[in-house]
Parts: sequence; structure tokens; C-alpha cells
Amino acid sequence: MEIKTMKRIGVLTSGGDAPGMNAAIRAAVRAGFFYNLEMYGIYRGYEGMIQDEIKKLESKNIAHVLERGGTFLKSARSAEFRTAEGRNKAYENLKKHGIDGLVVIGGDGSLTGAHLFYQEYGIPSIGIPGTIDNDLAGTDHTIGFDTACNTAIEAIDKIRNTATSHDRLFFVEVMGRDAGFIAINAGIGSAAAATLIPEKKMPIERLVERLKARTKAMKTSNIVIVAEGGKSGGATEIAQKIKKQLPYYDIKVTILGHLQRGGAPSSSDRVLASKLGVAAVEGLINGKYDVMAGIINNKIVFTPIAKAIIGSKEVDEDDFRIAKILST
Ligand code: F6P
Repeated sequence: MEIKTMKRIGVLTSGGDAPGMNAAIRAAVRAGFFYNLEMYGIYRGYEGMIQDEIKKLESKNIAHVLERGGTFLKSARSAEFRTAEGRNKAYENLKKHGIDGLVVIGGDGSLTGAHLFYQEYGIPSIGIPGTIDNDLAGTDHTIGFDTACNTAIEAIDKIRNTATSHDRLFFVEVMGRDAGFIAINAGIGSAAAATLIPEKKMPIERLVERLKARTKAMKTSNIVIVAEGGKSGGATEIAQKIKKQLPYYDIKVTILGHLQRGGAPSSSDRVLASKLGVAAVEGLINGKYDVMAGIINNKIVFTPIAKAIIGSKEVDEDDFRIAKILST
């Protein structure tokens, strides 16, 4: 494969935002400047690529963004980019600005877009895993996951206070449409009575038994964590089912929702994002195309995007086992 000389690199964030995306943009842009490249911000993800919202970035654009949540480049989920016409418009705009390579920061949908675009137009692209869901293979953690877990656990600690005061059973719904990583971590980190994740079905009867056993063991509060994409339903649905079987329980539901996507990135997310931002630009310079930069066992690795999205990670069986041991 021919290594193209890079002069101008475009950076974009796409899909659900994640704390640490700004740190990744900043690192990629800083690295680009270090290697004497011109760096372009593509605003609002692929949607902005189609609408030509592409601007040259200067040092001042990335000052004081490392510590801020969200993404200053903004993000979008572009329906038009899923069409061949949309991708063609996007390609024409990149050509107009003379952009030689792309750094795409996002989750599986965003990286799928980059992969398709590379296949169709040969624009060298490199992905950076940015999603609170942690559901990409080729990296131990995705950017934003650690912060989202911290946010969830902090919120659950507060719920624990009021749950204990009133002897209540709380169902707390955390994000994760298809992945239970936030749920299982929050469950272990906040001493949950049970954790329900999309990857595993837990029969309601088993949950009822667990709650009854905990009542017998004189547990003063019960918090059940439910991932939003749980196989047995969301927190509200499960709470209703449990209420039918345990009518004497005082049950409340809290949905943490988008709270988990905001906030200043944790130190882990800042460092991860900074390392991956530099790795992505160096990767492009060295001819690593259509890959995702990740960190496994503290080492930068480049995984073909096709592998990172298809072989999406599963919650470790051991984590599930540990959560169960700790909840009995
Ligand atoms: O992919 C990240 C994520 O936060 C998921 O956990 C959640 O299901 C989804 O995005 C929510 O997306 P939106 O903000 O578009 O509703």
C-alpha cells in the first residue's frame, strides 16, 4: 500500500459525545502542528462534512479544551452520510479543502462510516474510540467510559443515602443500549444488589429470590442497576414486574440518562485521549489507514476498523461472576 504524504488532516467527532473527546481533538491537532501539518476541524461530524462546515484550526482553537466535557467540534448522527449521495458530497468537500487524511473520533457507527468512506474514496482515515459505552474491540477502554462510570457511581452513592433512610428498593438505569460495561462497573463499584445487562438475560424470578434473600439478611437498602438495553426491559419495566411480585417493597426508579455523557473528563480519560490523539496523527503519517488506534495493556495498538467494530467486546464473564458474589 502506498503511503501518501500528509499535508492537511481533518478531525471530527461523531455519534454520542463522550468526556475526553476534546482532549483527543487537542492532542491530534497539537501532534499535527508538531509535524508541520495543517489541521482542519470538521464541525458536526459527517453532517458538517456534507454541509462543508470545515475550518482551519489554529493553536488558539484548542486552548483550554482538554479539561472540558463535550466536544467543541460538536457531534451529530448523520442520516445523509449513510447514503451514497451524502458520502459523495462529503468527498467533494474534502477535495475542495485539500484534506489528505481524517481522524475520526467516535463509537462503532462513526468508525463504520470512516471504514466505508475509505473503501469508497480511499481517503486515509484513522479512528479513535470515543464512546462512554466501551463497546469497541482493539482497546481496553474507550474514551469517556471511565468518566461515565465515575459519574454513575457518584450518583448511585447519593441514591444509596436516601434509599437507606427510607428502606427503599431503587432501580437505577444507566446508559448502554447494547453493552453492559457501565452497568457492570457501576454495579461492582456501588455494591448493587443485582446488575442487569443487555448481554445476559436474568429471569425476574431469580431477581425476586435475590431480593428476598437480601431482606432476610437484613440489608437496609437495595439498589438494582439496569443497563438501558437490558434483555428483560428498562428500569421502569422491571420495577413494575417486581412490584407485582413484591408488593410490600417501597420501590423507586431513577434514570441517570445523559448526565453520564457530561462532565470534565477523569484523569484516565484525559491521558487515554491524549495518547490516542498523538498516535492517530503519527499513524496517518506512517501509512496506517482504515485502522483504529487503541491501548491494550498500556501499549498503543492499531486494529483494522472492520475488526474493532465487528468483534465488539463482551462484558467479561469474570466481572459478572464477581458482581454476583458481591451482591449476595
Ligand atoms: O453510544 C453512547 C450512548 O450514550 C448510548 O449509551 C445511548 O444508548 C445513546 O448514546 C444515546 O444516544 P442519544 O444521545 O442520541 O439519545
